[in-house]
Amino acid sequence: MTGSSPKVLPDVASLRAAVAAWRAKGEKVALVPTMGALHAGHVSLVEEGLRRAQRVVVSIFVNPTQFAPTEDFSKYPRTFDADLARLAAAGCDACFAPGVEDMYPKGFATTVTLEGPAKVDLEDHFRPTHFAGVATVVSKLLNQAQADYAIFGEKDYQQLKVIQRMARDLDIPTEILGAPTLRESDGLAMSSRNVYLAPDERQRAIAMFRALNHAAAKIREGEVIGHEMTEAREILVEAGFAVDYIEARHADTLERIARRVEGPIRLLAAARLGKTRLIDNIAV
Ligand code: PAF
Repeated sequence: MTGSSPKVLPDVASLRAAVAAWRAKGEKVALVPTMGALHAGHVSLVEEGLRRAQRVVVSIFVNPTQFAPTEDFSKYPRTFDADLARLAAAGCDACFAPGVEDMYPKGFATTVTLEGPAKVDLEDHFRPTHFAGVATVVSKLLNQAQADYAIFGEKDYQQLKVIQRMARDLDIPTEILGAPTLRESDGLAMSSRNVYLAPDERQRAIAMFRALNHAAAKIREGEVIGHEMTEAREILVEAGFAVDYIEARHADTLERIARRVEGPIRLLAAARLGKTRLIDNIAV
């Protein structure tokens, strides 16, 4: 079913006015920050927002500061009209779509500095400037929207943990919520990057979920974590992946974990198939 098109809010003033009007009526507001190229996974974040709040704002901003010079900022898919259609169907109220000059006006000179889950030798090792860019733009979005809730996908698990820690440490009053990863029918985590996979790579890509799932099941049965993670890595290598990491970590701190008794465990993986880098994670 197609709902009415979300109101496009092109700048911070229009975002603040919309949120203030909802608040004046006693309505709660959820923010879903995105970089566009929306797929069913994003729609599930909007749906989670609608379960929590009367109003949902989706921000669409391809944030240049979280891309390294070698990464795909200019090539990142920009599909604004299709995104709006998806948001209309999902029942989203408004789409905040600022320009780069609104978010980073001339003279912009501030960056959020991170430790803790941002410095654990996972994504941060391969993308050393990435989380500073994410945290800076997300702290701006949270301040701009002043929403009750902000919803992030668990697919980017380290990002979720970094943002939760930042919001806690900086006393940002918005509650940061994670929503489960949406998967294709064969288990591949939905991602804007999946479109880059060639047909044979797309078939082999499911090995990532298979490897994580297998390791999680064995660890739950009491098998040795180190051994299971080595096997999981082998599954990826056999499928033709170049592995960046596949590791068991503490689910909150993301610190290394060797035994189940040390706390809740999350398995996280990043690996490349051809030119496409995939990430995924699951709870044990
Ligand atoms: O996950 C994303 O799409 C981005 O990192 C985010 C959180 C919207 C910040 O630009």
